[in-house]
Amino acid sequence: MNILALESSCDETAAAVVRDGREVLSNIIASQADEHRLYGGVVPEIASRRHAEAVSGVTRQALEEANLTLTDIDAVAVTYAPGLIGALLVGVNFAKGLAQAANLPLVPVHHLRSHIAANYLAHPDLKPPFLCLVVSGGHTHIVRVEDYTRFTVLGRTRDDAAGECFDKAARAMGMPYPGGVHLDRAAQNGDPTAFTLPRPHVDGSPFDFSFSGLKTAVINLLHKAEQRGESLPLNDLCASFQGTVCDILCSHTLAAAEQTGDRVIALAGGVSANSGLRSQMERECAARGITLYVPPLPLCGDNAAMVGSQGYYEFLAGHLASTDLNACATLPIE
Ligand code: KG4
Ligand code: ZN
Repeated sequence: MNILALESSCDETAAAVVRDGREVLSNIIASQADEHRLYGGVVPEIASRRHAEAVSGVTRQALEEANLTLTDIDAVAVTYAPGLIGALLVGVNFAKGLAQAANLPLVPVHHLRSHIAANYLAHPDLKPPFLCLVVSGGHTHIVRVEDYTRFTVLGRTRDDAAGECFDKAARAMGMPYPGGVHLDRAAQNGDPTAFTLPRPHVDGSPFDFSFSGLKTAVINLLHKAEQRGESLPLNDLCASFQGTVCDILCSHTLAAAEQTGDRVIALAGGVSANSGLRSQMERECAARGITLYVPPLPLCGDNAAMVGSQGYYEFLAGHLASTDLNACATLPIE
């Protein structure tokens, strides 16, 4: 079954063709990051406009690269939630028009479910159930993937998402948007023990996260140094910050795995590209005999191939939409 998939939840306009949920035939991404960088973050109105300009082009390119025409496609899948509402609406409306015109089933896909599905594209042996740490710009969840379309959230952030925290700390250090990847690079040349940073936890909820205090601590250190006319060793600050975030993410995920008894863990979302997170999880899972799956770097961030993968399993579960499908800015993964 060939699924044509679309993604426009944030600042990437993406289209892909995926066969039987596991094989990527094409994966086209038009990123708007260069334009949003001028403003230090995503400007929703600009994002919607750029999606509207790019969506038909990336779709045509995805079909061409897969060497297929619309007649070879069996369903259209689209990210409908969560995300920037105006951005989501562009993908949803385009997908609805395409499905209607080509008389194809329309499959709505939850963005975080699709991040998890990025793992199916790279790991043919991975099947639910497993535990997944979903870490993106907008979300931080520990999710038990009970089945391809059934999820239980065991923990979530109470304030900032991990990616948001990376981006805000990076921005305070003068790095361009999106800062996570720049902070990661700087951290690789720094000493993670140079700064002791707070490790906020949520009383009574061992699998929940709270990152805003950690972010504020980094920003305060920078402001105080600036007021004194001093400059901090930024590589060390990055390494200490990254080490602390990764420690918190790893320890909570492993504690959740201990409680559920899961022996398979996956990472998902933009922050799963982080070198510190990948290596610490690899080490700690290996020490416990837990099998770890991570998406390849090009599938960590937003893309449509992951939507095509999850869309396949939603289709098999009979989760279809009609032309009254609407986009939602927030929607639980469950
Ligand atoms: O999943 P994603 O592409 O978009 C959302 O759904 O939000 O995640 C984007 C987030 C951004 O905050 C970005 O800075 C972060 O992922 N990110 C990283 C790295 N690469 C991307 N954070 C830390 N280290 C990285 N290497
Ligand atoms: Zn995402």
